[in-house]
Amino acid sequence: MTITIIGHGYVGLVTACVFADFGNDVWVIGRSSEKIKKLKQGDPLIYEPGLTELLKKNLKANRLHFTVKYKEAIAASEIIFIAVGTPPKDNGEADLTNVFNVAREITKYLPENKKILTVVACKSTVPVGTNKKIELILKKYKPKNTPIAVASCPEFLREGTAIYDTLNANRVVIGSNSKKAIDLLLKLHQPLNGKKVITDLASAELIKYTSNAMLATKISFANLISFYCEKTGADVEAVLDAVGLDKRIGRIYMNPGLGYGGSCLPKDILALINTGKFLGIDTQFLEGVEKINAQAKENFLNKILKYAPGKKIALWGLSFKPETDDIRFAPSLYLIDNLLKNGFLISAYDPAALDNIKKIYQRKINYCLNPYDCLKNADALIIATEWNEFKQVDLARVKQLMKHPYIFDGRNIFSLDTMKKFKFKYYSYGRQSL
Ligand SMILES: NC(=O)c1ccc[n+]([C@@H]2O[C@H](COP(=O)([O-])OP(=O)(O)OC[C@H]3O[C@@H](n4cnc5c(N)ncnc54)[C@H](O)[C@@H]3O)[C@@H](O)[C@H]2O)c1
Repeated sequence: MTITIIGHGYVGLVTACVFADFGNDVWVIGRSSEKIKKLKQGDPLIYEPGLTELLKKNLKANRLHFTVKYKEAIAASEIIFIAVGTPPKDNGEADLTNVFNVAREITKYLPENKKILTVVACKSTVPVGTNKKIELILKKYKPKNTPIAVASCPEFLREGTAIYDTLNANRVVIGSNSKKAIDLLLKLHQPLNGKKVITDLASAELIKYTSNAMLATKISFANLISFYCEKTGADVEAVLDAVGLDKRIGRIYMNPGLGYGGSCLPKDILALINTGKFLGIDTQFLEGVEKINAQAKENFLNKILKYAPGKKIALWGLSFKPETDDIRFAPSLYLIDNLLKNGFLISAYDPAALDNIKKIYQRKINYCLNPYDCLKNADALIIATEWNEFKQVDLARVKQLMKHPYIFDGRNIFSLDTMKKFKFKYYSYGRQSL
C-alpha cells in the first residue's frame, strides 16, 4: 500500500519505519526542510533504540520518502495518518491547532475525482469528539468527487521500546463508521500482532485516554501508599509486592518514585480533566491522581533540601524514563529548577538526554560524560531516572569519589541491604531512611 504519515516524532517516524519495513511505500510529511534533509540522510533526530537502523534500511530500499510537500504524498496515498503533537494549553486543554491545520492541508492536495477512497486516520491523542470535527473539516473542504473517510487509530507505543511495542502491540484500535476504512486499516495492520479492536470514533478516542489515566492512577496509587509507609515505618516495596500477588491487582506499573512525566501521561490526564469539566463530570478523582504526582516530587525535593549535607549535587538521569532522550515534563526538570533556585551546584549525567537538557539550562549546570565524573567531591547523589546502567554501578567507587556518602534515590533502584552494606546515608520512597 502507499500511505502517508504527517509528523515524524516518536509516533510518526516509528510508525513510518515499521510500515515501510513491511513492504509498504511510505511518505512522511514534515514542516522543516532542514529536518527532512537530515531524515533523508538517515538521522532520525530522536533517540529510540533500533530506529536509526530501521530508518536507514528502508531508505536504502526506497520505501521511505520524506518531504515537506503535501502534493507529492497525498495524491498517491490510500491512508493518511495524522501523527502531529497535541501539547497541553495553559488550562490543560489539548491544543488541537496542529491536528486541524493538517486536516485542512490534506484537503488542499487531494486530487479532483480521485476514484479510490482516501482514509484519514488520526494517531495523535485527541479528546473525544475531535475526529468528528476532523471529518467536518475534510468533508467541507475536500474536492467534491473524491471519497474520504475518517478513522481514529490511537497509538499505544512507549518511548524507549517504541519499535517493539508497534510490532507487539497488545491491541490495534480502529474506530470508524466506514466499513471500507476499517477494512483498509485492517489490511495495513494485518502483519502486526495484537488483537484488532474495531469500534466507533468516540470509543477509540476514549480508549486512549482511559489507558493513560489508568497507568497514571497506578503510579499515583503506589505513591500514595508510599506516603503511608513513610509515616508508619512500613516498607512500600514489601507492601506492593504482596498486594501485587493478587491476580486481580498485579504488581506491574505500581512503582513509587518521582512519578510520571513525559509527553503523554501528564498532558493526557489534564486533557481528560478538561473534557470532564466540559461535560459536567466530577473530576476530583483524576485531579487527585495529578495532585499525588506533584506531591511525590515535592516530598522528594523537601528531603533533599532538609538532609543534603552540602550544595554540590550529582544528578543521574534526566530523561523522563529510561531508554529515551525525551525530557518533556521530566521530573528532573522540576528538581533542577528548584535546586538551582536554592543555590545548589549540579553536575548531571544521562546516557541519552544531555543534549536536550543543555538546550534549556546551557551553562547553569555541569554536564558529565559518565556517571562517575559527576561524583567528584559531591555532597549528595540524586537518582531521577532508573536507567539500567545505574543499577549495578561500582558502589565502592561511588562512595570513594563523593565528599559525603548521601544518596537520594527517586526510583528505589537500590535495596536497603545494599545501601547498609556500603554505609550510605540513603533516602528513597516509602522505605526507612538510612
Ligand atoms: N510519544 C509517545 O510515547 C506517544 C505515545 C502514544 C501517543 N502519542 C501521541 O501521538 C502524538 C504525537 O506524539 P509524538 O510523541 O510523536 O510527538 P512529537 O512531538 O515527537 O512529534 C510531533 C511531530 O509532529 C510534527 N508536526 C506538528 N505540527 C505539524 C504540522 N502542522 N505539520 C506537519 N508536522 C507537524 C512535528 O514537527 C513533529 O515531527 C501526540 O498526540 C501524542 O500524545 C505519543
